[in-house]
Amino acid sequence: MPFIPVAKIDEIPQGSGLLVETNGRDIALFRLEGAVYATSDVCPHQGASLSTGTMNGEKIVCPWHQWCFNVKDGSSPLNPRLKIKTYEVKLEGNQVFLLLPDQD
Ligand code: FES
Repeated sequence: MPFIPVAKIDEIPQGSGLLVETNGRDIALFRLEGAVYATSDVCPHQGASLSTGTMNGEKIVCPWHQWCFNVKDGSSPLNPRLKIKTYEVKLEGNQVFLLLPDQD
């Protein structure tokens, strides 16, 4: 599985996310303290786009009903059984790459 180039780091807004559509998946990219993280863009509550949410420290806050997810591991501080998918990210200079598994 090769890493796929998906965006430049400065395309990702501070305090929010960037939606990238790669291999049929909607993936949200977020910046935090010089690093980039990737999660599923789809909120498991009612399907809002998490890339349009806001960042509060390590938390992504969904724009519709404010469910939260940790940007690093996808866990929910509200519900330990709830988790969104995360993806491996690689940076080379300004270029952001994603490693996508064959199946989600
Ligand atoms: S759709 Fe995300 S919290 Fe409701």
